Parts: sequence; structure tokens; C-alpha cells
Amino acid sequence: MTLQDKIRSRTATVAVVGLGYVGLPLATRIASVGLRTLGIDIQKYRVDRINAGISDIGDVPSELMAPLVQKGLLTAYTTFEKVAEADAVVICVPTPLSKTRDPDNSYIIKAVDSVTPFMKKGQLFILESTTYPGFTREVMVPMLEQASGMVAGQDFHVVFSPERVDPGNEKYGVKNTPKTVGGLTPACSAAVQALYGLFIDDVRPVSSPDAAEMSKLLENTFRAVNIGLVNELALMCHKLGLNTFEIIDAAASKPFGFMPFYPGPGLGGHCIPIDPLYLSWKLRTLNYQARFIELADTINTAMPAHVTQLCQDALNEAGKALKNAKVLVLGVAYKRDIDDYRESPSLTVIELLEKKGAHVDYFDPHVPEYRHESATGKSIADLSKLESYDLVVITTDHKVFDYEDICARTDVLVDSRNATRKLTSKRAKVYVL
Ligand SMILES: NC(=O)c1ccc[n+]([C@@H]2O[C@H](COP(=O)([O-])OP(=O)(O)OC[C@H]3O[C@@H](n4cnc5c(N)ncnc54)[C@H](O)[C@@H]3O)[C@@H](O)[C@H]2O)c1
Repeated sequence: MTLQDKIRSRTATVAVVGLGYVGLPLATRIASVGLRTLGIDIQKYRVDRINAGISDIGDVPSELMAPLVQKGLLTAYTTFEKVAEADAVVICVPTPLSKTRDPDNSYIIKAVDSVTPFMKKGQLFILESTTYPGFTREVMVPMLEQASGMVAGQDFHVVFSPERVDPGNEKYGVKNTPKTVGGLTPACSAAVQALYGLFIDDVRPVSSPDAAEMSKLLENTFRAVNIGLVNELALMCHKLGLNTFEIIDAAASKPFGFMPFYPGPGLGGHCIPIDPLYLSWKLRTLNYQARFIELADTINTAMPAHVTQLCQDALNEAGKALKNAKVLVLGVAYKRDIDDYRESPSLTVIELLEKKGAHVDYFDPHVPEYRHESATGKSIADLSKLESYDLVVITTDHKVFDYEDICARTDVLVDSRNATRKLTSKRAKVYVL
């Protein structure tokens, strides 16, 4: 049977390599339409939990995943031999930055190296991890060809298809988020369209893997640059004595030609602070400076320092110093209502406050503890001792926080998310970003 026949008859087996925020929702979705799905991850703990029917990814409820595991539709492995049984292999491993803020594609390279011993003719390889334009064609294809002695586009298919998952988004998930696919050849694109068409409502081909890689970087650069613009607006409004959020809301009343973005303590997560730098790095190799990206990065990475300065100024007005002040940081997840704290600006705010001599606690019901580079933290259990803090700073606007109560029991509050906008505080002096 050809790959297309297996897809048509829904007898195709799909391996998903990397079972994190991207891979697990995808694997679960594939299994849910009845395709045999083999999950592969190097973390034994993660694999064991999945095989026990327990999901640690917020967007994948255990109640949805466990029956798929019980029916044998989804099984996780720590080794790669099962790739030999797969008709399609989807790679969803991390693509962080190195210490020098250059692309670190080593996870993709290791995953591809682990897969190649089990390659067979006719397979479809799909890279979902975000990377720079040209990576699939220039790095991944030669690796697959050299290891197998086969020819890409002729003996096996290769596609880049950027993941668009938005953790915590209740409206858009794998099924109803349109998916861009860029095949190495028209046959590669046809294969991925047939496969992904089984479980994604809207699959849109572009002309090449490079185009798909670039489209993903445009999406994330668009956000990073627009957030950089409103973060700079916040810095300007601060100097002008204006309320940034009032200005943005006024501009957003224009029904055309304006899309509101909001400032915050900086960028977080595994995508927006990182992905645009993959593009600027690639352009540097072509002797071109991606100016918007670099400027937005400069402004966005300076926001935690701005928030720290606001804290110092707010305490100063209350006649107190930041040094030795008791400060409570509310929220360390990088955005509302999720448990992911990768690249979270809250962690930088904590670090900067501590450097200035403050005694910092944090409270985040979604993140009971964190481990970030050499720093670790443990959330306080509840807000019963809220009155004991000299300053409270809101860095993540989780819905679970009772802002009315927080304002009523706090003297000095720095709100970097405009979470208190609808409150007329009876007690706290609120400083908005
Ligand atoms: N998290 C998001 O919101 C999001 C959104 C869109 C795109 N992406 C992109 O998707 C990719 C994956 O991100 P993520 O957030 O799912 O990362 P993650 O860290 O949540 O998950 C990655 C998983 O891959 C596993 N892994 C690492 N090396 C491996 C290897 N060699 N073989 C098998 N498994 C391996 C890890 O153990 C981990 O479980 C990244 O390129 C990211 O930029 C992420």
C-alpha cells in the first residue's frame, strides 16, 4: 500500500517525536481520529505518565487522552525503533537560543539522528519545530539523505509545517487552527495535505519548506514588533504622564486599520521572545541586519528593568526604600492562566528586585515552584499574609486572583498588566505600566 492509500484507509501510523506543549496536543489529536500514534520522548517520566493516561500539558485533558492510551491508539516510547513502523514522522522538539542568543537547533539534529537508523522508503517526515528559513532543506534533508542513502522527494517525503498552538486558548486548538504546510516537492505537499486533512479542518500549502518556515517567523515577529511598539509607547507615556492603556483603548475604537496590542513586563514563552532572533540570525549570515526585530528585542528585554524601576519609584513615594522591602510578585507564568514559565519576564523582575536588596516572595497557583538557570523558587501557599508586604507587583494577570481583595489589602501596588483597570481602589495606590 502506498502512503496515500494508507492515509485514505486511515491505516497509516504516525510517530510524533517530542511530547511537550506542541507534540502532545498533536499526538492526541491524531490518535483521536483513529490513527495509530507512536509518541517518542527522551524524558522517561513524561513517557511513563502518558502511558499511565496522565497528561501534564494543560491543553490536553487526561480524560481525553487516557481512553486513547487504553485503546492502544496512543503509546509513548523513550526509544526510536518504532519509527520503522511509522508511515509519517512528526518532529516537535525544542528550538531555544544558545547562551549567545543564537539559534540552537541541536535538539532537532539529535532527533533526526535518532530517527534515521529506522528510516524506510515512502515515509513522510514533517518538521514542526520553529526554525530559520532554509533549515529543513539545507540541514535536515541532507542528514536524512546521507544516513539513508535515499533521495528526498523521490524515496521519501519532507515537509516543514509550523506549529501554531496557543497554550490556554479555549477557542483555537489543533483541529480548527489553519495549518501551513510547505513540501519539498508537490508530492510531499500532497502527502501532508492528505494526512493532516484527516484531523485539521484547514490545511494550506505554500510553495516550499522555506516559505513555511518564513511564514511562521513573520507571525511571531509581527507579535514581537507590535508588542515592542506598545512597550515603547508605555515608556513614552510614562514620561508624558499619560495612561498607556487609555491611549491604546482610544486608538482601538477606530474600526479599521488598527489592531490593539498591550504592553507588559516583557516577552515570555518558548516562541515570541526567541523565534524572531532565528530570522535575524539567518539574515546576519547574509550580511543583512533585521532592524525591526533587533529594536523590538532591545525594547522588550528592557521591560523587566522598567517594572523594577516603577517598583522602586512607587516605594520611594511611600517613603520607603526597595532595599530590604518585602515585595510580593503576583504570577510567574509568562501569560494568564497557564503553567509555562519559560522565558517569563516575571523571573527577571524577581532577579532584578533581589539584586536591589528586596526580599521577594511570589504567588502563582499555576506554578507552585520553578527552576530557571541557577534560580529556584517556591510559591507562597496563599495570600493570608498579604498585608505584611511593602509592595505588590502584578506580573501575570491570572483570572484566579481576586484583584478587588488584593487592592483592598495592599498599600502600594505596581500593575504591569492593567489587571486592576476596572477597580477604584479603596486602599492601594496603584501604579500602572
Ligand atoms: N509552546 C508553544 O506555545 C509553541 C507554539 C508554537 C510552536 N512551538 C515550537 O514547537 C517546538 C516545540 O516546543 P514545545 O513548547 O512543545 O517544547 P517542549 O519543551 O514543551 O517539548 C519538547 C519535548 O521534546 C522532547 N525532546 C527533546 N529532545 C528530544 C529528542 N532528541 N527526541 C525526542 N524528544 C525530545 C523534550 O523532552 C520535551 O518533552 C519548538 O520549536 C517551539 O518553538 C511552540
